[in-house]
Amino acid sequence: MTESVFELAPKTEPERQYYFMENASVLIKKREEKVGHHLSFHVTTFGCQMNAKDSEKMTGILTKLGLDEVAEETAADIVLFNTCTIRDNANQKFYGHLGTLNGKNHKNKNRIVAVCGCMMQEKTCVEKLKSSYGFVNIIFGTHNIYKLAELICLYLEKNENVIDVWDKPADIVEDIPAVRKYPFKSGVNIMYGCNNYCTYCIVPYVRGNERSRDAKEIIRECEKLAAEGVKEVMLLGQNVNSYGNRLRNSIGFPELLREVEKVNGIERIRFMTSHPKDLSDELIEVMKASSKICKHIHLPLQSGSTRILKAMNRCYTGEQYLDLALRIRKELPDTAITTDIIVGFPGETEEDVNDTIDMIRQVKYEGAFTFIYSPRTGTPAASMPGRQSKEWIKREFDRVLKAVQDESRLMAGRFLDNVEKVLVEEMNEQDDKLVTGRMSNNLMVHFPGDSSLIGKLVDVKLTEYRGFYYMGRIV
Ligand code: SAH
Ligand code: SF4
Ligand code: F3S
Repeated sequence: MTESVFELAPKTEPERQYYFMENASVLIKKREEKVGHHLSFHVTTFGCQMNAKDSEKMTGILTKLGLDEVAEETAADIVLFNTCTIRDNANQKFYGHLGTLNGKNHKNKNRIVAVCGCMMQEKTCVEKLKSSYGFVNIIFGTHNIYKLAELICLYLEKNENVIDVWDKPADIVEDIPAVRKYPFKSGVNIMYGCNNYCTYCIVPYVRGNERSRDAKEIIRECEKLAAEGVKEVMLLGQNVNSYGNRLRNSIGFPELLREVEKVNGIERIRFMTSHPKDLSDELIEVMKASSKICKHIHLPLQSGSTRILKAMNRCYTGEQYLDLALRIRKELPDTAITTDIIVGFPGETEEDVNDTIDMIRQVKYEGAFTFIYSPRTGTPAASMPGRQSKEWIKREFDRVLKAVQDESRLMAGRFLDNVEKVLVEEMNEQDDKLVTGRMSNNLMVHFPGDSSLIGKLVDVKLTEYRGFYYMGRIV
């Protein structure tokens, strides 16, 4: 490919990317002739559903280039890491993978290593890759993942490392090919970015400001997915309850749910994540009236202490949260509520943790993710005083964990003997006579069955509760 091929590229998206996908596949063929074998790729994804969805798009692009996906990271000719930087341990995990890839057993000078995602939006991380991991060939961020083919073209053509990280998001680019991990369920982005600036959180900095997708585009994607056999969609956003707020003449989230509900073939609708400050009574009403919206609300608490919530800039008090959670319990009694909790936020005291534990005891979550606070460079909380010692955090974390486990063991067990609709997701990992599926309330059940059931919705009687999951049989 010559300069003129870059010059000839269409200026509009996604046409431009389809052009580069064609050109990249020609360059890949040439490389295959040179190395004497068919080229393969592997994508490793860290972090949340947003990254999982982005990785499906990039897998779609890589497949379109004629590359084969392989299960082993170390065996692939093109390795792509989609990174997360929500907590420091996410970063450490990624560096661990890079180390292994370049370790003496797996070194391969012909391998192309590409890294993208949230970590790459942080200058220090890009600098670290440049200085200590020189074998990384292509670096890009969260706002231009759709350009993967173009970046691969650039790298193959010029044979020098490519760095393309954008400070700010540009237009939303639709209609990039995707290869889904599951044929029967899919995430659907309804919005990107976040404007909430919780003081501990890096997401607004690495994902940009909040942008809602056009409702028509979302419905069109759901229809397309349904036509391809998808039964369950998960509507994705950092704060789905503020969907449409910043779009002129847009419908809001409850209305969007009503529209998705009308799509024939979609039998289940999930969404992630609900910010408590924006969860409306209208949403509760829509859920009540719906036969497709799953009976599960993930409602991150973070802390039960109003003082800490204020320092976190969560924009609700402990009382307001409790009131909302109890309203959900009353109006939607079969709906499971799960949450996220942070322990060790700067200035947190034992009394604050007691407030969090009180909340857990009152809401009785079916499940909760508990995290140790991790300071993120550039966020306001990182420079707040009052960090507790490791020992203190470990002790308080264990107290919270115990409360969560006590309550969720009881609450998640309340569905015993019910007959529930279950979407069968996979063969059981331990026992090949069992399949594993997910109920509407997001709890898992294992029951006798074979691979022909995967992707089907079946009625299952819950016969045994084993603490957090069920055993059952098809009825
Ligand atoms: N948008 C979602 C959360 C996305 S991040 C929401 O507002 O609910 C997922 C979870 O990671 C958060 O709910 C929070 O509990 C946790 N988290 C985010 N930043 C963190 C940090 N710096 N340290 C520890 N946990 C963090
Ligand atoms: Fe982070 Fe808060 Fe936005 Fe969630 S709402 S992504 S925790 S800033
Ligand atoms: Fe991580 Fe980025 Fe998601 S920081 S949690 S992958 S938005």
